[in-house]
Parts: sequence; structure tokens; C-alpha cells
Amino acid sequence: MAGLMAGFGHYTHAIVRGIPASLATEALRTSQAEVDLDKARGEHDAYVQVLRTRLGLEVVELPADEALPDCVFVEDAAVVCGDTALITRPGAESRRGETEAMKEALKDLKMNIVEITDENATLDGGDVLFTGREFFVGLSKRTNQRGAEILADAFKDYAVSTVPVLEGLHLKSFCSMGGPGLIVIGSSDHAQKALKVFEKLKDHMLIPVSNLEKVKLDGALTCCSVLINKKKPDN
Ligand code: GLY
Repeated sequence: MAGLMAGFGHYTHAIVRGIPASLATEALRTSQAEVDLDKARGEHDAYVQVLRTRLGLEVVELPADEALPDCVFVEDAAVVCGDTALITRPGAESRRGETEAMKEALKDLKMNIVEITDENATLDGGDVLFTGREFFVGLSKRTNQRGAEILADAFKDYAVSTVPVLEGLHLKSFCSMGGPGLIVIGSSDHAQKALKVFEKLKDHMLIPVSNLEKVKLDGALTCCSVLINKKKPDN
């Protein structure tokens, strides 16, 4: 198995995207809960502020697109690892157009771009968990085996295992990285247990960020940014 990737967990840039008015009525969702657009925008602004001012990231803000109701959930449009960015092919047809602006932003950041062009492949970034040593890819309603194979081709230095996602939208709907070597598995029932795990970490810092509106659209906090660790100077 590969060792822990140098710089794992450290980021310099984040790509985020604005919320279109169409999010409230047309974004994909599994719940029937009503979405308050102003609240969603307020929460998103606060989230972006945390990335910029508390975490010190250089934030690239892409404009919202009314024709792409789910476009705020940028995580699904690209998988970035080191200097390579894999532009995905989202499982939901209504979301395929989201990758264009993401690709341009990643090109501007001088990332090496790999694109999924195989029409039999689907991959949402929300199904990709990178531990710093290996990838886990959720096989879900949005991501298929061919998508996982293309990811393995794009990131040849790392082992890739697939995980069936039998409930929920994405793999990262119920798990995420808590730090190097720590995968946090959660669900509403186990959220408090996950919190206890974080409390045991040395030097931990909890920054509360509200996400009440976007969760109604199956959007978690990781859905709303693509994080990048850029070492090379721009030229
Ligand atoms: N609303 C996020 C998604 O369904 O893809």
C-alpha cells in the first residue's frame, strides 16, 4: 500500500459555486422538505467565509447557473488529488453541465486535467473518499463500476476499492475523513459518537457551520467545495 500522501489534509485553495434560485424548486432531493432560498444562501456565505478567513484558503467562487439547480454541490464535478484533477461524469443527467465551469477553474489553477469521456461511466465526487493512502469509491445510484475503474486509471499511485452504497445518496453521505488515518462513519443516530471521536484528537478545533437548508437537498458540507493543495507556483 502507498504511504500517506505528503501534505495530506493540507489545502491552499477551495473552489465553490453560488446558489441559483432554481435550487429551491428544481434541485434533486430525496426529502420533501421545503427549502428557504435566503437561508440557504446565508448558510452558504457563512461556509465560504469559514473557508476563506478561518481556514485561510484562497477561494475561487464560480457564479451560480440557473440552468444547473444543483451546481452549488461542486464536490461531485471533480476529484482532485495532488496536481491531478479528474473531471467526473455525474450520474444525474441534469448535473452533467456542472463540469464545464469546474474544468475551466481547475485549468486556471494549472492542474493536470483528466476527463471522463466514456459514456458508460458515471462518477460523482461525493462517492469518492481519499484516505491519503487509498481511495474508496461508493457504487451508488450515481456512480458505477466503470467510473471507479477510470478513477483508478487516473490515480495509479493509489489502490482503489469499491464499497456498495445501499442507502442514501453518496458514500460521503455517511462517512468522511476526520484526519490522517481516521475515517468517520456517521448517520444521524451516530453523529454524537462521531463527535466524541473528534474530541479525543489532540489540538482539535470544532468550527460550527450551519447546513440546515442544503441538507434538505442531500447536500453535506463536503459537497460544497473542492479542496486543493497547490505546491507549484503559477507561471
Ligand atoms: N441535491 C444533490 C444531488 O441530488 O445530487
